Amino acid sequence: STVPVIAIDGPTASGKGTVAHGVAEALGWQVLDSGALYRLTALAATRRGVDETDEAALGQVALGLDVLFSSGRIYLDGDDVCEAIRQEAIGNLASRVAALPAVRAALLARQRAFRQPPGLVADGRDMGSVVFPDAALKVFLVADVEARAERRCKQLIEKGISANLADLLRDMRERDARDANRQVAPLAPAEGAVELDSSRLSARQTIQAILDLWKARA
Ligand code: C5P
Repeated sequence: STVPVIAIDGPTASGKGTVAHGVAEALGWQVLDSGALYRLTALAATRRGVDETDEAALGQVALGLDVLFSSGRIYLDGDDVCEAIRQEAIGNLASRVAALPAVRAALLARQRAFRQPPGLVADGRDMGSVVFPDAALKVFLVADVEARAERRCKQLIEKGISANLADLLRDMRERDARDANRQVAPLAPAEGAVELDSSRLSARQTIQAILDLWKARA
């Protein structure tokens, strides 16, 4: 495809979502929140009573997801699930189902379908390595675990969801370890990725840093 992709990968709560949307908005490009697809798979499986150890059934759930991304909202089977998929329990289940090859394979074509003119900003764990290895710019966005737990805590409280910093810190360390150590598509910078540390940057500064990298690309 000649449609350019900016891949933004990194650990949970590194600010990828906000930053990807900001970069996409500035360029007038499409955006893919690939984590949402894993969260939607987890939510759909929960709703259908599919056991989290049944890999084949989870692959089918991922393949058959009836989802619609529209005006910043996300619909599953026609229901607005924007808040439901952000629950920590769904995020944790998403991280477990994301370790299953059948699920990752099932979501591959769905992710690539987001590559539409004039360009795509894709955020996730393996955008630059697996899904869009030919991305024109690959950013590996990191932030220390304390900064990420604090951001997540603030976000949840702003949404009226109760949150506890110590619990978030523990869950985040667990999730980081699982995402980094799994067999399929472990979290690691893609070849040619630029590492960007956002611990001490605002969202705006991080977006600007990526736009600068895009302008300066070889
Ligand atoms: O980014 P977010 O926290 O929404 O992602 C939820 C989970 O989905 C992550 O913990 C990760 O395990 C998984 N994921 C993945 N590959 C992606 C995006 C998310 O494995 N490209």
